[in-house]
Amino acid sequence: MARYGILTAGGDCPGLNAVIRGIVLDGQTEHGDEYVGYLDGYKGLVYGNVMELDRSTVRGISKEGGTVLGTSRHGPYKEPNGPDTIKKSMRHLGVDGVIAIGGDGTMAAANRLYEDGIPIIGVPKTIDNDLEATDYTFGFNTAVEIATEAADRLRTTGNSHKRCMVLEVMGRHAGWIALYAGMAAGAHAILIPEQPESLEQICAWVQSVTDRGRAPMVVVAEGFTFPDMDEAYSDKGLDEFGRPRLGGIGEILAPLIQEKTGIETRATVLGYIQRGGVPSAFDRVLGTRLGFAVPDLINDGGWGQMLALRGNDIVRVPFSEAAGKTKNVPLDMYEEARRVFG
Ligand code: F6P
Repeated sequence: MARYGILTAGGDCPGLNAVIRGIVLDGQTEHGDEYVGYLDGYKGLVYGNVMELDRSTVRGISKEGGTVLGTSRHGPYKEPNGPDTIKKSMRHLGVDGVIAIGGDGTMAAANRLYEDGIPIIGVPKTIDNDLEATDYTFGFNTAVEIATEAADRLRTTGNSHKRCMVLEVMGRHAGWIALYAGMAAGAHAILIPEQPESLEQICAWVQSVTDRGRAPMVVVAEGFTFPDMDEAYSDKGLDEFGRPRLGGIGEILAPLIQEKTGIETRATVLGYIQRGGVPSAFDRVLGTRLGFAVPDLINDGGWGQMLALRGNDIVRVPFSEAAGKTKNVPLDMYEEARRVFG
């Protein structure tokens, strides 16, 4: 019998609890393994803060948002001698290996820990859907549902007032949430980081919608830039990984549209609503399947690898192949949607 530690790191996302439950159920029943949960991401791994995880602790949690383990963006290399401290703490707690559930930052840190001799595997997550190694990440589907509902709601109030409504969604430097939610809600313009658009072009789309007697709906990704911007808009400083905190471009864009077209325009920044609450059925199923695949991966000695979804199959990919590679919206896919803007 072996004992493993599970951690969730980086931004939370719907479906994390389904993975935790899947690992513990499959690992206990199929392999007779024991599990602990590290609290608050890599911080728990470094300081040895754990909770016991068994069938009864994970009962019914797959439908709950967030993560029962807590999370943080605290990197394991923030502490001097991080890997040595972790090894000591694992020995002390009798933990034989680590399962890190997280996004690109978490996977990059896991890769480094693996190279420093810590047995660790990864499960990818992010609402942004921007990890190259996997077709979809759990959390994305729920975020798109929430953003679509928000856009639908904004359209009814926009129609009543004949206003242009701007909805800003998350996604960092990838436009997946904006593209999917914008297409689902029939937005008249979708603005993504992968494709700068000029204010003139955006206003031309908005004006043509108004000229047809409709209320324009614009969905903008937080990482969108105008052609003359070198970097995405950020006024909130840096996160723990030193990356700019994004958000706010919607509030820059709305007054510009109003000023240039004379059409009354309002902005809504959806923010963390996209990450909270109940996961969709799709994300619960994907999270559960990834969880079920973890004990087998460990059993096969798959340290240094992460799981990924390819088509409908759960596959294994070495960290070294996956870490640091962003999956952006292909421009031909954006072009498909762009043809009918305005
Ligand atoms: O990566 C997920 C995400 O929600 C991004 O879409 C967003 O830019 C970022 O996390 C926000 O991070 P934080 O929780 O650190 O504010």
